[in-house]
Amino acid sequence: MDLVPLPARVTTTPGGFALTAGLRIHADGALADAARVLQTALRTAIGIPLGTAASAEDAGILLQQDPRLEDEAYVLEVTPERIRIDAGGERGAHWAAQTLLQLLPPQVHRRAGIGTDSASPDWHVPPVRIEDAPRFAWRGLMLDTARHFFPVHEVLRLIDLLAMHRLNVLHLHLTDDQGWRAEIRAYPRLTSVGGWRPSSQIGSGPGATQDGRPHGGFYTQEDLREIVAYAAAHGIAVVPEIEMPGHVQAAIAAYPELGFVAEEHPWTRWGVNPHALRLDEPTIAFFCTVLDEIIDIFPSPVIGIGGDECRKDEWRADPATQRRKAELGLDTEEQLQAWFLSRIDAHLRSRGRRVYGFDEILEGGLVSEATVASWRGTAGAVIAARRGADVVMCPEDTVYLDYRQSALPEEPIPVGVVTTIAQVRAFDPIPADLEPEHHGRIVGGQGNLWTEHVDSARRLDYQLFPRLCALAEALWSGQDPSAVASFADRLDEHLARLDAAGVEYRPASGPHPWQQRPGVPGQPYDRAERAAEIARLTSNLA
Ligand code: ACM
Repeated sequence: MDLVPLPARVTTTPGGFALTAGLRIHADGALADAARVLQTALRTAIGIPLGTAASAEDAGILLQQDPRLEDEAYVLEVTPERIRIDAGGERGAHWAAQTLLQLLPPQVHRRAGIGTDSASPDWHVPPVRIEDAPRFAWRGLMLDTARHFFPVHEVLRLIDLLAMHRLNVLHLHLTDDQGWRAEIRAYPRLTSVGGWRPSSQIGSGPGATQDGRPHGGFYTQEDLREIVAYAAAHGIAVVPEIEMPGHVQAAIAAYPELGFVAEEHPWTRWGVNPHALRLDEPTIAFFCTVLDEIIDIFPSPVIGIGGDECRKDEWRADPATQRRKAELGLDTEEQLQAWFLSRIDAHLRSRGRRVYGFDEILEGGLVSEATVASWRGTAGAVIAARRGADVVMCPEDTVYLDYRQSALPEEPIPVGVVTTIAQVRAFDPIPADLEPEHHGRIVGGQGNLWTEHVDSARRLDYQLFPRLCALAEALWSGQDPSAVASFADRLDEHLARLDAAGVEYRPASGPHPWQQRPGVPGQPYDRAERAAEIARLTSNLA
């Protein structure tokens, strides 16, 4: 019973509960999706359907809503007569269901179609009472689908794995210099041209080469709706992201009038691209139309607009942009970026949504009611929280899950700073220098998986696991010392669940030979040097 994340309170009760063939489940109407998750998992693992009971009295598993509990909170009680779940809301029921699955043998995490063992384990739920609620409301993962495209079934599999760890946000990074992945019906070239590149960079740093293989793909609007619906049916919100005004080469390749320099195709290299959007009225109208189609698909109250790493040289060099800046009475390119983002913000708010952007959106002044994703340390988080903005912490030196997991020479394509499981488990989203009265503005955190060097689901597993387990626990259980102390042992047991689910995680001893990529150059960097660079980069936040 080594649960990950560790629930807030676990006590033992007399007698456990045996799952048998005639078992039936009953759920309050609003909790039906959580009941379906249990039915699917148990049917797959035990091989018999978990029937639906017409009334609470007939049910061996009972899911009920308790309005006294917060939405994500639940109480799970196992007695010899029944398993009873009281949940604050739909999401609380999902997290209770996931905890219940972790109380069963790890084989319950086998995915549909993998089949049952002939030696059937003991389908017995141990006697416990669990009272649980998350420490943070935003517990997320960002998946970059632009640098490498992941087909729908891989995204759905990832959603299963997020739900298993009681994570509740999937931030889908849908556009970047290297690819545009969301079908936009008003602008078909975004995907027909912007969805494909002729080659991709292999490795990082001075020794990097090109693979010469076309890469691409995109999600149709139907695909995106399927992802949103599947995530919702597992308690997870999907936050889409359309990058602007930088990270836009794929869009400019499709529609050159959006930029300053025509490009034949999306970028084939990694790094910070020189191009930016032309900040004129047609570009603003274009992106508002794009956002309208996105809003129609994604119910998320916040919509990602990126905002990070926009090079401003093309604005400085362009006479029309400089005239615009003067007409607007602006002094700097940072203010010009803030003006553009305020136009996008106004549009989103006219549609009842709000901006979600990286901490660069603080340059030149923050748009109102934005949620800030603080990736360059804590500087942006502190400024934003003091101004009353919500903040999601994703500091790159702690929760960038594309960063190398050890300093071993066999680590595949080592980039970034070494980020170990223990460092991720120690992630505390509350910045040390933020005054307590502003702590409530830190709504949570997320890991970011940039996929320059993640070109398959196998490599995605390698980068994410088991560090994502540590992230989930840091965000659910916080830094309670006894939870932190028991984490490594619990994780050891939890790996059996990942094995059952077919997750190809990084072994503690280092990558398997087939997980290594000998000869592919990386570009690791040093923590102290990177910290100094981050301090310099964030010194202009207003
Ligand atoms: C980022 O890593 N450019 C947000």
